[in-house]
Amino acid sequence: MLRIKGEFQQVQHWRNEVAHAGWLVEHEGLPFAGVYFDQHVQLPIPVPQRGEVLVKVESASVNPIDWKVQSGALKPFLPSKFPYIPGTDIAGEVVAVGSGVTTLKKGDKVFSWLGLGAGGSLAEFAIAPAKSTVQKPQEIASIEACCLPVAGLTALQSIRDYAGIKVDGNSQANLLITGASGGVGLYAVQIAKLCGAHVTATCGARNMELIKNLGADEVVDYKSAEGAELRSPSGRAYDAVIHCTSGIPWSTFSANLKPVAKVIDLTPNIKSLATTALKKLAMCQQELVPYVLSAKAEDLDLLAELARGGKLRTIIDSQHPLSRAEEAWARSIEGHATGKIVVTA
Ligand SMILES: NC(=O)c1ccc[n+]([C@@H]2O[C@H](COP(=O)([O-])OP(=O)(O)OC[C@H]3O[C@@H](n4cnc5c(N)ncnc54)[C@H](OP(=O)(O)O)[C@@H]3O)[C@@H](O)[C@H]2O)c1
Repeated sequence: MLRIKGEFQQVQHWRNEVAHAGWLVEHEGLPFAGVYFDQHVQLPIPVPQRGEVLVKVESASVNPIDWKVQSGALKPFLPSKFPYIPGTDIAGEVVAVGSGVTTLKKGDKVFSWLGLGAGGSLAEFAIAPAKSTVQKPQEIASIEACCLPVAGLTALQSIRDYAGIKVDGNSQANLLITGASGGVGLYAVQIAKLCGAHVTATCGARNMELIKNLGADEVVDYKSAEGAELRSPSGRAYDAVIHCTSGIPWSTFSANLKPVAKVIDLTPNIKSLATTALKKLAMCQQELVPYVLSAKAEDLDLLAELARGGKLRTIIDSQHPLSRAEEAWARSIEGHATGKIVVTA
């Protein structure tokens, strides 16, 4: 049963003889209110082109960005062409290699970030760019490895590259991590501690113990008065904030920052971008910096190494079979996951 139409870029790669299962998003959904998935359809297996590999997907993780793209909320930054297979984070086995690929071979166990524009994770087979696909150490299960790309890269890059904190254990920085119980936040707490930073974290009351156990120095319930004001219980002013939630006004941040400080904004919008621009124009030393993920194989390797050595734990919120991937999607939209949501083949 083939229902592929339109101009989705992978269509031209597909051959018709062998089918696999997957999900197609046929049209844009209502922003945040509903997601339309097609029924579970049979799709032709894609063929890897130059610089690509074909991966038999063992597991995939869902990120908020996936359903934000699907909902149309990120237009005009990320227009999606319909129909398309959603999702970007996978772990699995390489089953075919396109021309020009020298770093990977058939039979390699890998994990990969497929790229925002491409998607493709919610299917039995996916095309992955070789440049953002790396070897999965055998000590890490594929359900853990598939969680690392978007959430792990974001945690690592926002702390190291955007906040400027070295991952060397010697940092003296005071760091606030908001939304510490989410997919990004749980990795960010652990990476910040590996840097040596003093970590204050906000989360819901039910997750405070978990986040303390992962190493946070201070944990504050975001629904308490102290949490709403982002105050450090020990009275510290922050050098940097890894801001994993949204809807917090700049005045709440600035009251808690050192005179020179950065707030790394993971969910920039028109209003926050205007604040960023105004602060820049005024040459303000308390900056609001929008974050955008970049696919770096060396960063994926670093995350794998940390996970392999037991220094970076993955907390899995829930696991869903591919045939019921819409439940994983709904769980992410609810916004109350503790850690990562995984779909397994
Ligand atoms: N710019 C980029 O390239 C990029 C990359 C990755 C992620 N992001 C964005 O970063 C954000 C975080 O991603 P994620 O995967 O970590 O999300 P997530 O896993 O969906 O986060 C869910 C968690 O956030 C907690 N939370 C919600 N509101 C909170 C608040 N006001 N204070 C403290 N905790 C709160 C929830 O706790 P409760 O259940 O207790 O409420 C839940 O545990 C998303 O908006 C995502 O789109 C951006």
